[in-house]
Amino acid sequence: MERLDKRLAATGQWSRKEAKELIRAGRVAVMGQVCRSSEEKVEEDTPVTVDGVAIGADAPVYLMLHKPSGVVSATEGREKTVLDLLPDAYKAMGLFPVGRLDKDTEGLLLLTNDGPLAHRLLSPRHHVDKVYYVRVDGRLDQADVEAVSKGILLGDGYQCLPGELELLENENAAYITIREGKYHQIKRMMAARGKPVTYLKRIKFGGVELDKQLEQGGWRALTDGEIATLFRQ
Ligand code: URA
Repeated sequence: MERLDKRLAATGQWSRKEAKELIRAGRVAVMGQVCRSSEEKVEEDTPVTVDGVAIGADAPVYLMLHKPSGVVSATEGREKTVLDLLPDAYKAMGLFPVGRLDKDTEGLLLLTNDGPLAHRLLSPRHHVDKVYYVRVDGRLDQADVEAVSKGILLGDGYQCLPGELELLENENAAYITIREGKYHQIKRMMAARGKPVTYLKRIKFGGVELDKQLEQGGWRALTDGEIATLFRQ
């Protein structure tokens, strides 16, 4: 048995003083119950969380984030990154975004520290479905649906894989599914059709859907079912 503040400090993520502050602030839970006493005695294997994240656990972490426009899908740099939207407790866990969304693109971004899974999901050989809601300057029509289904030839000569375009009532909006993730891919596909993108939001990745309850900038852990869906890809 050891004191709760000592157990937190032993992870190397916080000093003893910082651990005490976290506990006082009600951010630490022991077996799911918030504990505000640094003197609480815990066993080595008693589940302890900070901001809902298990401490000292080697267990991989899988999160979904509703990325707002204006933040970059990076882990460091001068600009505000998607990691800056997460609680500090995640900072030391080696999380990184699974692929990138452009700075002005919104929607579903997965974050994990599970390198092998991320690698599989991003591998060009795996053709994981990504679904976006897109708005363009212009009217989308059946000719665009056919072009996307055949695979659009981009301005630089790159031949896209076949995708799907689902027209919506509003003629300048659609759902688009792609199975690869080239740089600015949808923007370049729509530009090749002469209908530049004015708004882009990812709503699905590898069978996992953006949680409609999540506000922009909001995040949550993936459910076991969602994690299993990713592993099946
Ligand atoms: N395609 C784009 O053009 N931008 C994104 O952010 C994602 C897909």
